[in-house]
Order: sequence, then C-alpha cells, then structure tokens
Amino acid sequence: MSEIINGKEVAKALRDSLAAEVVELGAKYGRTPNLVVILVGEDPGSVSYVTGKAKAATEVGIRNKTLRYPETITEEELLAIIAELNGDEDIDGILVQLPLPKHIDEQKVIDAIAVEKDVDAFHPSNVANLWLKKPCTQPCTPKGIIKLLKETGMEIEGKEAVVVGRSNIVGLPVAKLLLDNNATVTIAHSRTHNLGEVTRRADILVVAIGRERLVTADMIKPGAVVIDVGVNRDSRTGKLCGDVDFEPSKEVAGYITPVPGGVGPMTIACLMENTVESFKRKVTK
Ligand code: GUN
Repeated sequence: MSEIINGKEVAKALRDSLAAEVVELGAKYGRTPNLVVILVGEDPGSVSYVTGKAKAATEVGIRNKTLRYPETITEEELLAIIAELNGDEDIDGILVQLPLPKHIDEQKVIDAIAVEKDVDAFHPSNVANLWLKKPCTQPCTPKGIIKLLKETGMEIEGKEAVVVGRSNIVGLPVAKLLLDNNATVTIAHSRTHNLGEVTRRADILVVAIGRERLVTADMIKPGAVVIDVGVNRDSRTGKLCGDVDFEPSKEVAGYITPVPGGVGPMTIACLMENTVESFKRKVTK
C-alpha cells in the first residue's frame, strides 16, 4: 500500500510562497512579473491548460494575459506578434501553448521567443545550457517532478531511475535532471523490448508516453516511487487517467502520483516560478 503523492498540495505551497515573494518584489521594484500566454486554435486540452496557467498566475499575483488566435493565423503573423512581445520591456515571460497547427513550424516559433523570456525553457539555447550544466531555466514538468521526488524525502543520489519516454518536453530533460541529482538513469520508450524487465529495476520510475495502462502493477518494483506524467482519457470510464494502471499499482509502489492531481499542478507552479525568476533576472541586471 503506497503513499499517494499530493501534487496539488505541494503545488499550492509553492504558489503561496511565490505569492508572498511577488508582493515583496512589487514593493521593492514598483512593478510585478508579467506573463503572456499565446493560444492558437480551440483544442479543448490546450484551452484547459492555458486557463489553468492564467488562474495560477493571477493567484500568485503575476500579471498575465492570454492572447487567443484562430487556427488560420499564419506563421508570419505569429512570428510578428512574438517579435513585438520580445521587444516589450514590461513583459517577463512568453509562452506559446503547443501543439500548433500543422501549417506553422513549431520549432521556428520556439526559436523566435527571446531566451530571457522563455519560461517554458524550450528554446534551443536553454536546452543546450541544461545539457552543458550551465545556468539555465529548467523546463516546468521535469523541474516539478524533481521537486515532488524531494518532497517525498527520498534521496535521489545512487538510485536506479527509469524514465519511460524520450520527448523533448519531458522524457529527455527529466532524465538529465535525475542524472544531475546523481541517479543512475535508464531511458526506455515505446519500442523498448521487455519494458517490464526494465521498469522492474527502477527505484524511481517516471512514465511519460501518453498511453493508458502502459505500466501495470507487475512492472513495478515493490516500494518504488512512481511518477505518472501521462494525461489520457480512460477508454473504460471516460475519465482522465495517466499511463500507470493506478489502483493495482498503488498496492505495489512505495509512493505514486495520481492523475489528475499529481504532476500537472506542479508543472503550472514551476511555470510561475520560472516567470518570477525571469523577472528577478531582469530587475537585478
Ligand atoms: N503542451 C503540452 N505541454 C506543454 C508545456 O509545458 N508548455 C507548452 N507551451 N505547451 C505544452
């Protein structure tokens, strides 16, 4: 029987501490951090994410606005909007919600965001600095996962960590952060043969594929910490679910994150932290 890691609670504590800091920053510098979120189209998942980001920003005292554009916006128009936001001294963070429509080159858009305003940490320069062990903004979901692991009180150093997934947003950077915390890291993926054999070695198991019930209870080492980054619709119940078969797995794991209420709220809280950090870098420059 495992302990359920309450991501909602940890995220709330982080937001509360940021809110207090933002009040102090406002008093000291005469302005507060400012975040702009860009949403293209009306995908319900993306709408829900940006709504959550705006709500959290407001709660923390970060000024924010969401710019919404139709699916038909051209790449050129979007790049022109970003160029303008880059040049606006009063804006500290810019986030373009992904995915973008097919006719827009996503990488070109990410590349266009000024590095110092890249609160998602998707810009190639931020990615390179992360892998080169240089100061950088850490991507929100991986950063949130490390905070959750530390919250369980567990030592990461020396542990066997298995990351299932190799995306630029989660799998690769979370593997790097685990490595930086001195875990021994294996990166598995959807084509790994005998996935269960690999996952059963993990003291720390991070799953980020996006497939319901990819990880079943028999694939978990008893007592392991299981971090579920998946967000799926359960085909049996229609409810939101992760990549891990939660009910049976929680009987085997030592700690496990639920979906919803695990990693998701931490991603958003870390986005707030990145926005505050971006503001602080600017005002103390
Ligand atoms: N789409 C899915 N996750 C993310 C994220 O963390 N940031 C952005 N901008 N888009 C996403």
